[in-house]
Amino acid sequence: MSENNKKTHTVSKEELDRQKQFTQKVSSVISASYDEKPKACVITYGCQQNVADSERIKGMLELMGYDFTDNRLEAKLIIFNTCAVREHAEDRVFGNVGALKSYKRENHDVVIALCGCMMQQQHIADKIKKSFPFVDLVFGTHVVHKLPELLYRALTGKKRVFDITDTDGIIAEGIPVRRDNDAKAWLPIMYGCNNFCSYCIVPYVRGRERSRQVEDIVAEFKCLVEQGYKEITLLGQNVNSFGKDLEPRVTFSELLRMLNDIDGDFRIRFMTSHPKDCTKELIETMAQCDKVAEHLHLPFQSGSNRVLKAMNRHYTREQYLELIKYARELMGDELSITSDIIVGFPGETYEEFKETLSLVKEINATQLFTFIYSKREGTPAAKMDDPVPPEEKSRWFKELTDLQETISASQMKLHQGKTYKCYVYGKGKLGDNYIAARNDGNLIIEFEGDESLIGTFQNIKVIEPLTFVMRGELVKEKQL
Ligand code: 5AD
Ligand code: SF4
Repeated sequence: MSENNKKTHTVSKEELDRQKQFTQKVSSVISASYDEKPKACVITYGCQQNVADSERIKGMLELMGYDFTDNRLEAKLIIFNTCAVREHAEDRVFGNVGALKSYKRENHDVVIALCGCMMQQQHIADKIKKSFPFVDLVFGTHVVHKLPELLYRALTGKKRVFDITDTDGIIAEGIPVRRDNDAKAWLPIMYGCNNFCSYCIVPYVRGRERSRQVEDIVAEFKCLVEQGYKEITLLGQNVNSFGKDLEPRVTFSELLRMLNDIDGDFRIRFMTSHPKDCTKELIETMAQCDKVAEHLHLPFQSGSNRVLKAMNRHYTREQYLELIKYARELMGDELSITSDIIVGFPGETYEEFKETLSLVKEINATQLFTFIYSKREGTPAAKMDDPVPPEEKSRWFKELTDLQETISASQMKLHQGKTYKCYVYGKGKLGDNYIAARNDGNLIIEFEGDESLIGTFQNIKVIEPLTFVMRGELVKEKQL
């Protein structure tokens, strides 16, 4: 592709062929160096987009002749795929990489590599260059497809290899994928973000929004269904703006309908939706498409209109509530709402924070992902006054999580007696003969049943909601 797509361009066939040659070269180097396949350990931080990138990294490594391990101390190649969204994630990476210093001193042949969002920031790459001399390879989010070449240079050259080129607008198709799970698959439908929420680093490290071509997505989706994947999650920072850069334009709802029409027994999930672009049409599509999970991850971040404005979110509390109301009207209690919230955005007052609490009370979310604001260098919020001390923010945070715990507990009770279509994914924990399943809203229901049901969809009735899981029973008469 894509002459008909003005902004986005895919990596050329010539470049992919070049990388294939490097794949062969790495393969020759490592088979000459080791008697048996060397192991690679890929450690992933952050969101599902990073998980999906790591699956591509592992796909490429597999072709180069690597085996895999979760134990970094038995690996000949250790790759940290990093996250830059909050400082805490960055600190963990520095800590974990630092801990490998003496290991590397004693094991010269081990290659240590860092990639992902954190590396796409110049000041971080500089810090690695200066303070972590035992790191051999650093590459950014735009050049993941060049791993064979970069690794070859790291294995054979004398110099450390750094490539954090920003080739904005690029999409690499046809990269092999080694998926972590046999039933659940991540499928990126777009990359990057154009929203520039004032607190967020993502647009700076993942570049501008670009959509994959519909035919590439459909082909990968069909392949996953044929391979037996049952839960396929479409990924993008803001899936609601999918297709705006494609010609002809395609909406996210249209894409969902196309995928829903594909034959097979599977469930479609998607994340993340941005309230400013979430349309009534999308909600109607969710309600009408039988294979689309009735689960909406719709982060509102704050319940205060002033804070939302300062966050550059482009919607109000009222508009958010309107969307939730419409979604509940169409999908009822079956709909699972989840959301992200930031506590202690610069300049947020306790009164404004209380508006977040009141919004939480109104929406009855199944689950909330709550974060204390973390200052990200280079974002507009980093320059804003932030007078509230961390201890105070922690108190607010606790107030929020306590509230959500009570709401979740009362929400769990609402499931009593209800029957859900669930994907049976494995053994349960409630007892020897229990197996575990998930409903649309990702809630776990365990029931007594035969292990042969694992890997199928079943109707399960909730008998007793417990704290984190529910006890249920198989409903045999209802056909799916
Ligand atoms: N501080 C705290 N949380 C953040 N998020 C993004 N940037 C920051 C930040 N600087 C949160 C948002 C987003 C989620 C993925 O991470 O809630 O939705
Ligand atoms: Fe960050 Fe906002 Fe983009 Fe989400 S939509 S990735 S919070 S800038």
